[in-house]
Amino acid sequence: MSHIVAPSLLAADFLNLKRDVSLVNQSEADWLHFDVMDGVFVPNISFGQPILKPVAKHCTKVVDVHLMIERPELYVEEFVELGADYVSFHVEATRHVHRTIQLIKGAGGKAGLALNPHTPVEATFDVLEDLDLVVLMSVNPGFGGQKFIYRTLHKIAALKEEIITRNLDVQIEIDGGVGLHNAEKILQAGANVLVAGSAVFKSDDPTDTISRLKNVGIENLHF
Ligand code: DX5
Ligand code: ZN
Repeated sequence: MSHIVAPSLLAADFLNLKRDVSLVNQSEADWLHFDVMDGVFVPNISFGQPILKPVAKHCTKVVDVHLMIERPELYVEEFVELGADYVSFHVEATRHVHRTIQLIKGAGGKAGLALNPHTPVEATFDVLEDLDLVVLMSVNPGFGGQKFIYRTLHKIAALKEEIITRNLDVQIEIDGGVGLHNAEKILQAGANVLVAGSAVFKSDDPTDTISRLKNVGIENLHF
């Protein structure tokens, strides 16, 4: 199966959200990435439930919610009810990782666990069987448009090895600083979901950039 491209709405034009969600709908993108920030877990505030509701309704792609908030267990069920297909939360943001995964699944969602750049992939190992997705942050969460941290490539490879060894079906998503310049390396390291905010929405032709991200290195990769 080909890899997944998930444009991040954080880099869209907020005065033209409907237009930009339609653009994603009509593109080769597979998912739409939706970044929620609370100003506590990360030093920035973005958007939350009232924006997700109409966006999820209008979006024909898989809705991939990334919670950068403290105590995500209080909100995950609500995000699923509002239309999130995947809900990812940070391992650093809660004492109750296993419980939060169960809450997401109990509400009918798919569960993702996100890791900051300094957090070892081993932090996922005792819940790996329960997860649908691991989000490896390749920038410090909170802002779009930052530079990719290359050390992430080693983390991808280590996580992928563990997933293969255990014969699991867990997707690996890379979030932050992803673009046409590094997508192939990321895929070769073993990731299969590319989140791209600025690389898509700040480009001259976002639809074409999505298509190019979707077709990166296709002839060199074996799925
Ligand atoms: C960063 C967010 C990312 C962000 C990526 O905290 O989690 O999803 O939108 O933006 P770019 O692709 O511009 O680095
Ligand atoms: Zn994100």
